[in-house]
Amino acid sequence: MDIGIDKIGFYVPKDYIDIVELAEARDVDPNKYTIGIGQDKQAVPQPYEDAVTLAASAADKILTDEDREKIGLFIVGTESSVDESKSTAAFLSNLLELPEDIRSYEIKQACYGATAGLQSAYDFINGNPDKKALVIATDIARYGINTPGEVTQGAGAVAMIISQNPRVLKFDHKSVYMTRNVGDFWRPTFSKTAFARGKFSNEVYVDFFTTLWRKYRAQYDATAEDFSTMLFHIPYTKMGTKALRTLEGNVPDDKYEELTKHYQESIKFSRAVGNLYTGSLYLGLLSYLVNGAQENEKILMFSYGSGAVGELFSAEIQPGFESVIDKAAIEDELANRQKISIEDYEKIYQVEYEDGASIDAEEVDTKFYLSGIRENERLYKVKR
Ligand code: HMG
Repeated sequence: MDIGIDKIGFYVPKDYIDIVELAEARDVDPNKYTIGIGQDKQAVPQPYEDAVTLAASAADKILTDEDREKIGLFIVGTESSVDESKSTAAFLSNLLELPEDIRSYEIKQACYGATAGLQSAYDFINGNPDKKALVIATDIARYGINTPGEVTQGAGAVAMIISQNPRVLKFDHKSVYMTRNVGDFWRPTFSKTAFARGKFSNEVYVDFFTTLWRKYRAQYDATAEDFSTMLFHIPYTKMGTKALRTLEGNVPDDKYEELTKHYQESIKFSRAVGNLYTGSLYLGLLSYLVNGAQENEKILMFSYGSGAVGELFSAEIQPGFESVIDKAAIEDELANRQKISIEDYEKIYQVEYEDGASIDAEEVDTKFYLSGIRENERLYKVKR
């Protein structure tokens, strides 16, 4: 049975900061941020947006009533959860008007969470071929103002419907994975911002890619010639470049050129948004689908979540995928955002709602929003 991604939707907050302006504010050479790190813009969520509302906004783009009837499994991959107990999926069930007979939960393993969700969805559809699964990657990447990680922040969500006979991407069930207890990046429960050993995290990321690529080749008797595209988890766009460069001189030059060209097409959206943590690999997929993909292409996808878990798996772009992707709507959403000043971003960043807070719908310009906090319980509303 063919199983994979049948639909994919994306949501990015409406405000962004310009990375050159961020560099100027931090007294850094802008080339370091635009070339050395490889970013142009960074999405800034409003204080009334969080992992729940971002996820709702992404799923809202693709969900139909027919999907709602068929969904049997709903998984949210996130490391920006708003509750230590209740899953983001449970918060979303009424916001997305999902029926009750659905198995819903959240997966946390840094940026790997959504890939774990997709693999579980694959198994679920294998056993329940007439059902569908909804998997959402949703996150706000935060390191703190004036930290080395600040330039690699971002926010947004990617929602995917998994089914048999998928119209976008078919998984070929070839996959290698690994886990190692590594201190490259972490976020203790008391902190809204992450801690990272930046340079070390880059080394671990590249090491995971090279180890998994070696394993994949051995396990499936594969070579780079089997793929025209490799998509990477993109915490910032230079990171994938570093992993890709490990192939230079080890694969034929024309193959390396092709992979590099396709990688550039896959990072266009990330350059304009920043790190989505769990969603970054899938934002790369969406960018590639909009900016370069061809029908029947065989692609390799590298998922990495600090701490660390990595997985390298292959898939095939489906004939007619373009008819399922609303290219114009995605490009409009990215193009019609509003640039805010670094000063305004810093103000937004520091807003922290406390218990008893109530957010007036008039002040909100998103469909799904945090409406208040009562007895420390977060409450959400849909703006009609
Ligand atoms: P840094 O120390 O500020 O930067 O931190 P740097 O000094 O390493 O410079 C960065 C690059 O800019 C270097 O290039 C410089 O040469 C270059 P590279 O050697 O790396 O190719 N550069 C310039 N280029 C042009 N013109 C100039 C110039 N000056 C310098 N004038 C770092 C950078 C990424 C470490 C920091 O932002 C950070 O800590 N980020 C957060 C951690 C991170 O994103 N790690 C990625 C791997 S871990 C991962 O992917 C998982 C993650 O998504 C979390 C999860 O799983 O949940 C993060």
